[in-house]
Amino acid sequence: EKGGHEYFMLKEIEEQPEALTNTLRGHFESGRIILDEQRISDQDLRDVDKVFVVACGSAYHSGLVAKYAIEHWCRLPVEVELASEFRYRDPVLDRDTLVVAVSQSGETADTLEAVRHAREQKARVLAVCNTNGAQIPRESDAVLYTHAGPEIGVASTKAFLAQIAANYLVGLALAQARGTKYPDEVAREFAELEAMPAAVQKVLSTVDQVRDLGRKIAESKAVLFLGRHVGFPVALEGALKLKELAYMHAEGFAAGELKHGPIALIEDGLPVVVVMPSPKGRAVLHAKLVSNISEIQARGARTIVIAEEGDETVRPFADELVEIPAVPTLLQPLVSTVPLQVLAAEIARTRGYDVDKPRNLAKSVTVE
Ligand code: BG6
Repeated sequence: EKGGHEYFMLKEIEEQPEALTNTLRGHFESGRIILDEQRISDQDLRDVDKVFVVACGSAYHSGLVAKYAIEHWCRLPVEVELASEFRYRDPVLDRDTLVVAVSQSGETADTLEAVRHAREQKARVLAVCNTNGAQIPRESDAVLYTHAGPEIGVASTKAFLAQIAANYLVGLALAQARGTKYPDEVAREFAELEAMPAAVQKVLSTVDQVRDLGRKIAESKAVLFLGRHVGFPVALEGALKLKELAYMHAEGFAAGELKHGPIALIEDGLPVVVVMPSPKGRAVLHAKLVSNISEIQARGARTIVIAEEGDETVRPFADELVEIPAVPTLLQPLVSTVPLQVLAAEIARTRGYDVDKPRNLAKSVTVE
């Protein structure tokens, strides 16, 4: 049942290409992006003037990733909010607000209550969910199901990647409705998404390298994660995985913020994982991150760099280099997250913990 793996999480990490393929299937027909359920008119979708993504844990990180794509494609302001905070701060909602509720289980109480609050304020709610007929999709105006399949590991992996893909479909559906993208552009973006399962398959060839690396740094006291642009939420997700599984202090930072505080944490031997943007796709950010890495390396950090294959400029500053395939910038989280999942799982295993059932956590939390 674990497919020859020591733990489910590794099996589920390896199922990610399939989870993406299944999530994308059937959502682009006759030149149009289609949702699974739409009880909201095309006109209402066109009238949306603000988007909130509400979610918890990894699902929240999938929303942070999507913000970059939705704002870019749709020219709509997008706020991403922890579901547990949302309704307690009187968010500004009306009929033209679209609230995207992302939840693997579809039963998370914090997210469900955020959905109920949004609907009371007349906002439209679109659910991105991995569980057919769960409560959150039942109470929503539109639904897009991720088809990651059942996830046994408590820490999300394949459901997270599927959420990113589904959130992108939501962005494309909005761009299509609003006319901020021409049909041929929507088709091209969808085709790029369809190429991602193969790219994720390719990044899985780094599993052994990353497991070795995990064993080497398993005794560290803490690990920091840095990223910029879409690499920033990936850094947050990498840190969350490590907290959940290995019970280690881990934090993700926006690399540009390093100099405003976190650099004080750097000490000899501290592992720092850096998610590099593409040197071609984001040359300016890339150069800034290279300089960040040289600074932390000079202060003794052990740099673990996740970079696009063929990225030579970063090599001198990388104590460990994990190469990921070159993909469009907005889609990079689908490949750059994978080594971070493997790293956390292997560190946890080396420390003797149950990777699939971390202490104090439950797969679905139905209390607020
Ligand atoms: C937490 C889980 O309790 O809930 C996380 O441990 C998960 O892995 C989060 O990301 C949100 O869950 P869901 O089902 O709403 O996506």
